[in-house]
Amino acid sequence: MNAANRSTPFIHPPTRLPTPLSFTPSQMNFDDPPTDPIAAARAWIEESLQLPTPNPNTIYVASVDADGRPSLRAVLLRAFDLDGAVFFTNHQSRKGRELAAQRSAALLMHWDHLDRQLRLEGSVESTSDALNDQYFGERTRDKQLGAWASEQSEPLADRATFDARYKSFEERFAGRDVPRPPHWGGFRIRPSTIEFWQGHPARLHDRIVYRRSGDRWTVTRLYP
Ligand SMILES: Cc1cc2nc3c(=O)[nH]c(=O)nc-3n(C[C@H](O)[C@H](O)[C@H](O)COP(=O)(O)O)c2cc1C
Repeated sequence: MNAANRSTPFIHPPTRLPTPLSFTPSQMNFDDPPTDPIAAARAWIEESLQLPTPNPNTIYVASVDADGRPSLRAVLLRAFDLDGAVFFTNHQSRKGRELAAQRSAALLMHWDHLDRQLRLEGSVESTSDALNDQYFGERTRDKQLGAWASEQSEPLADRATFDARYKSFEERFAGRDVPRPPHWGGFRIRPSTIEFWQGHPARLHDRIVYRRSGDRWTVTRLYP
């Protein structure tokens, strides 16, 4: 049977009631939007940390290769301030190489419990060695060793090979602090656009986008 006459089993999850939250979510006034989108995004991010979900700071990062082909993956947001959004990774990974080469990224956060989406697009910088060392130093020893053991995005023959690499670094650094691998550190996405989307269960959704020009932001309301 070819695709044209196959009947498509559409995905329809069962209707669920919204999870009751232990706090009352803030409400953004989309008709009189905040003037500072960084502060507003930060407020949404901080509010999300109260959600009953294991990783509310999950952020989806899109990079693009030299041929314009995009790719996307989840990472954990570790800082968000005036200078942008920071996450940590292996700089030799696929994302590491693409972000370093193209210097352009898109980020997405989606909080289902709050029916909110936050989108950012902007330029890419590497974070400083000092910040990388500080954050690496706060990680547990097994994660520090994992950063050495994982040749992120490279082919791996089997689990045993990975376990053996981990063990070899465990032995190499036995009895002393694990140093930060030179290829491991942060990326900072400095946003040039920030978009807020708020869903409403029984009515039309709200959406605004901020665009940066110099030090100023202009805000535009969009159809959702
Ligand atoms: C919830 C979640 C959080 C993750 N956080 C990170 C992270 O902070 N840094 C990281 O390098 N990979 C993280 N990963 C793994 C990435 O999604 C991805 O598989 C990996 O970084 C390799 O991506 P790449 O080959 O596109 O570079 C996370 C995965 C999940 C599901």
